[in-house]
Amino acid sequence: QWTTASIVDETVAAIREQIGDRRAICGLSGGVDSAVAAALVHRAIGDQLTCVFVDHGLLRSGERTQVERDFVAATGVRLVTIDAVDRFLGALSGITDPEEKRKIIGREFIRVFEQAARDLQAEAGAAGEQIDFLVQGTLYPDVVESGGGTGAANIKSHHNVGGLPDDLQFELVEPLRALFKDEVRRVGLELGLPETIVHRQPFPGPGLGIRIIGEVTAARLATLRAADSIAREELTAAGLDRDIWQCPVVLLADVRSVGVQGDGRTYGHPVVLRPVSSEDAMTADWTRLPYDVLERISTRITNEVADVNRVTLDVTSKPPGTIEWE
Ligand code: XMP
Repeated sequence: QWTTASIVDETVAAIREQIGDRRAICGLSGGVDSAVAAALVHRAIGDQLTCVFVDHGLLRSGERTQVERDFVAATGVRLVTIDAVDRFLGALSGITDPEEKRKIIGREFIRVFEQAARDLQAEAGAAGEQIDFLVQGTLYPDVVESGGGTGAANIKSHHNVGGLPDDLQFELVEPLRALFKDEVRRVGLELGLPETIVHRQPFPGPGLGIRIIGEVTAARLATLRAADSIAREELTAAGLDRDIWQCPVVLLADVRSVGVQGDGRTYGHPVVLRPVSSEDAMTADWTRLPYDVLERISTRITNEVADVNRVTLDVTSKPPGTIEWE
């Protein structure tokens, strides 16, 4: 009989066995898998683990705080945040093609993580130690799929870490290898992680970068972040989070339409709400959201977000549409 508590105990014992008194690092994405993997390893080896969180500026409102404040408060993990916002924005300047955006974000992510790992390695070296292990939140379905890439910002491989140079090769620690997503969530709750992290809906590695149709700029990110935050607040308030797989909010940054507000004519951008229901993201249906919820979201976004004067609803299933617009 596998209870969640016994999964935690066995996994923690196995991690201790593997790592012993050596050191490990773990990249946090803000998502549930890396958070639960890190929390398990921290329970096993405490401050021999250092977590690294890269802020690439493409996160949603509140996500950095969730990691820096809430996750750290719940676990006591030692966390290093790398502020790489300017670097990512610079690399994305002038880029509009979706796959090119993904490639750039993935490449920059690996470079930034690599530098952070080097710095931590140097710090450990100065204390006469070294970091031998890299923790990854690989789940059982990923193992079965045999490393099928799930995201540009995901470093994934079974023995060596793809994308990292030879002098930075770590032995992998994959504490979630035997678990399905729902088990990972139960383990997360058992470890006392916040609900906001444990039940977070899927969010793509390239983040808001692929939800701005057109060039990614700081101003456009601020606009999208504000609209997204309102949509998420209203969906949560309506108790719909568990019914919806995810609800991307997309900014059509190169489109303008005429509107009227107060006494004046506006010439702003539309956002698209993309609520979907799905089992595994391979196929999806558009979610029939209640009209009153749609109305609140629309009214608040057009009132509160400068530059957005129209809210539209995507009623396309997958296929033929994908969930994300890029
Ligand atoms: P699509 O748009 O292909 O999305 O229907 C299916 C699921 O995958 C997520 N997604 C990504 N996740 N890197 C990721 O880590 C990506 O580049 C990426 N593109 C899409 C999407 O949010 C949905 O859950």
